[in-house]
Amino acid sequence: PRHTVPPAAGAGLVVVANRLPVSLEEDGTDGGRRRWRRSPGGLVNALEPFLRTQRGAWVGWPGTAKAGGTPARAWRHDGLLLYPVALTADEVDGFYEGFSNATLWPLYHDVIMPPRYRRSWWDAYVHVNRKFAQATADISARGATVWVQDYQLQLVPAMLRELRPDLRIGFFLHIPFPPVELFMQVPWRTELIQGLLGADLIGFHRPGGARNFQWLARRLAGVREERAVSDVGDEPGLLGVAESPAGRRTVKVGAFPISIDAADLDRLARRADVQRRAEQIRAQLGNPRKIVLGVDRLDYTKGIDIRLRALHELLAEGRVTAETTTMVQIATPSRERVEHYLRMREDIERTVGRINGEFGRVGHPAVHYLHTSVGREELAALYRAADVMLVTPLRDGMNLVAKEYVACRHDLQGALVLSEFAGAAAELTSAFQVNPYHLEEVKSGLEKALTISRAEAGRRMGALRAQVLTHDVGHWAQSFLSTLEDRTPVGEPVRQT
Ligand code: ADP
Ligand code: F6P
Repeated sequence: PRHTVPPAAGAGLVVVANRLPVSLEEDGTDGGRRRWRRSPGGLVNALEPFLRTQRGAWVGWPGTAKAGGTPARAWRHDGLLLYPVALTADEVDGFYEGFSNATLWPLYHDVIMPPRYRRSWWDAYVHVNRKFAQATADISARGATVWVQDYQLQLVPAMLRELRPDLRIGFFLHIPFPPVELFMQVPWRTELIQGLLGADLIGFHRPGGARNFQWLARRLAGVREERAVSDVGDEPGLLGVAESPAGRRTVKVGAFPISIDAADLDRLARRADVQRRAEQIRAQLGNPRKIVLGVDRLDYTKGIDIRLRALHELLAEGRVTAETTTMVQIATPSRERVEHYLRMREDIERTVGRINGEFGRVGHPAVHYLHTSVGREELAALYRAADVMLVTPLRDGMNLVAKEYVACRHDLQGALVLSEFAGAAAELTSAFQVNPYHLEEVKSGLEKALTISRAEAGRRMGALRAQVLTHDVGHWAQSFLSTLEDRTPVGEPVRQT
């Protein structure tokens, strides 16, 4: 049944994402007290500041399956209107831990781990996507713009269009879109493509992902390609979707590389208290000549194990010494009930123990490993303190950490070692780019970054900053939303004013 369009009092700009920007977490005490914490990951860090300036609404899961404590109704948070979608424990199992994070996540990240295809997980994915679509239909104003986010919600665009044909619907994928040969493995491949085609605009980080999608839409959903996605320029690709009896609807497809609030982070990193904290961190580490830093969600796509192996071998070969170089790895706990994540954590912690056992001294471990997330000020201070930033994912949609490091280095010092398989590599060409599958290359990238001259560091960081400071998250969101809103009929030239 079609939904009754609510009064104009509903929200005019609605973001729909798996998580709300804040999540309810147990604090680990016996009483199991709960508190709200900022949700992990790049999506929230990028979108929340922007949406706050628009006074928009956000539909999402509050991050816990437990009844009680989860608000049933919308509430205001820092200028945003938050609408919770409650999930049961079974839904969290099948939809979030199962289909989203044990099927789609590994599949879309080049099958680094084998994806599992389970029918009950798919059923849960369909069911929960419908819940999100219904909640969004309930709160959106007539003719509102709805921006659906990420791989957990790929069926929402078509479900929402069915319920509310008056809405303008955008979809953005924050992770890589896979090569077509891999996507074709999915038993429910046609349903996923049809789900996405419910949007008016489908955005990816890279033109390659957008092109893969266009190919699959032609092949699996029989849509007509009216214009291909190109590598240059901002013009989106166009797909003609046949819709009887209404005729043909045009779906735009394009590349929109996400970014960060660079000016805000730049300001934060210049603050005297943050600089003092950076010096204090150096001192607390024993004033080593070089500090190497890693900051990630603890995820097997991030290549934390690879950078540890590279450091281990460099220490063993005497090309780096623990007296002069200290590594800090900050790893946010993530998806801890999913099997691959559990195993990877054990593996990483064993490797850290081994490096410290072989190369640490009392009071001076070679690697400081923290399984925690840190606040923004502390993060900015760490970035300021780090001589080398190691970002070595095997595959990453974008990787905001790399951009954040650059935004914090107004001193034009520091060096970025960056995997060529992070989306950010296309923009951050002055980093030391490495193939994370080639351990010798990671080692020599790290070695070069550790021995860079001040002049070369300045030249490289200057070029990186020129890119990051001029392409911020506001630019990303505006360009996505203006492409979504642009209703110039296809084939008609844009009139110059
Ligand atoms: P993903 O979205 O896959 O987690 P990104 O690199 O794109 O990867 O974004 C990660 C975001 O989470 C960044 O904004 C980064 O600052 C933040 N982050 C990652 N690890 C930590 C941590 N240990 N403490 C605080 N913030 C973190
Ligand atoms: O795009 C990366 C992403 O999966 C986001 O969708 C998500 O918000 C973030 O990483 C953190 O993951 P999770 O919500 O599973 O903790």
